[in-house]
Amino acid sequence: MTAVFSFFGVTTSQSAIQRIYPRWVELLDLDARLVGLDFPIGAPARDYRRAVERIKADPDALGGLITTHKLDVLAASADLFGGLDGSAALLREVSCIHKRDGRLLGAALDDRTSRLAIDRFAPPSYWAERGGELLLLGAGGASIATTLGMHRAAELGVAVPSRIHVTARSEHRLEELRSLHDRIGMRIEVVHHVTRTPEEADRVVARVAPYSVVANATGLGKDRPGSPLTDTVRFPHGSIAWDMNYRGERRFLEQARNQPADAAVDVVDGWDYFVYSWTQVVGVVHDIDIPSSGPLFDELSQIAREEQFGEPARLAG
Ligand SMILES: NC(=O)c1ccc[n+]([C@@H]2O[C@H](COP(=O)([O-])OP(=O)(O)OC[C@H]3O[C@@H](n4cnc5c(N)ncnc54)[C@H](OP(=O)(O)O)[C@@H]3O)[C@@H](O)[C@H]2O)c1
Repeated sequence: MTAVFSFFGVTTSQSAIQRIYPRWVELLDLDARLVGLDFPIGAPARDYRRAVERIKADPDALGGLITTHKLDVLAASADLFGGLDGSAALLREVSCIHKRDGRLLGAALDDRTSRLAIDRFAPPSYWAERGGELLLLGAGGASIATTLGMHRAAELGVAVPSRIHVTARSEHRLEELRSLHDRIGMRIEVVHHVTRTPEEADRVVARVAPYSVVANATGLGKDRPGSPLTDTVRFPHGSIAWDMNYRGERRFLEQARNQPADAAVDVVDGWDYFVYSWTQVVGVVHDIDIPSSGPLFDELSQIAREEQFGEPARLAG
């Protein structure tokens, strides 16, 4: 029987992964198909639970990937899992369901995938040589996971940003972050900023060190229109503006592109983050090693780009 890879989302039929996954499994010589499971945001807990129960009971179900519902799925079905990895336990979310030796396992990979994405444009040597900071605009799940990924890198002795700044519109969000950092004994200094208006966020951006990475982790520009910053924002010299998303209006990236040429601001979208998010989960679910760089990764990225944008792909460098 062809194995089943489940994709928990909101409108999964609209996702390009429906076209990308079949080409990936062909390239990887796997016999599997993708099945999308749609849930409205905040669906009843019993719906998430039933889906996890079905995966657990069906020998042909391999597991799969969860996007929007990572926290809700785990909250509704924690007792069904035979084990969680350290990140899932810490973040209380599951982005990857898989099976090993008949056990249903849950994992959270965002700390790993966000770091892979950042490494691509700001590797450890960048932080060591430039001494920049990391500014995360927005304190939701992806931001929190990114701070965990950087903490883990610091634990390994790898060069990391000299400081992490995180903005949120309310103190409450930052409390969640503080609580996680207390539990893990956060290795990097973290500065919290409550920014209730884009003007306040502009002031934080203007004050971070030269060569910092300024990340838009608010979803503004894709999930909702706009940017967390104003059009008159000034990015630090030599900084890198990174939007975690690669589609939508991405006004934040426009604002970065409009900086004066002598500010030498670089712009990176969330494409590589998207490809890492998917390839890493596919690797875990199928229990195969998918490298994070090199010819195989480039080929997988190229297929994804063709299916996503309908254009001949650039080779990732
Ligand atoms: N490329 C990829 O594969 C990839 C992977 C992961 C995530 N992403 C994208 O990254 C974005 C963030 O993901 P997420 O999971 O962290 O989403 P999330 O949990 O919804 O977090 C977004 C956070 O941004 C905050 N926010 C919204 N507007 C803000 C503003 N003007 N100033 C400061 N904070 C603001 C929200 O705060 P409130 O609580 O106050 O609303 C919320 O905490 C999403 O758009 C997601 O699609 C992309």
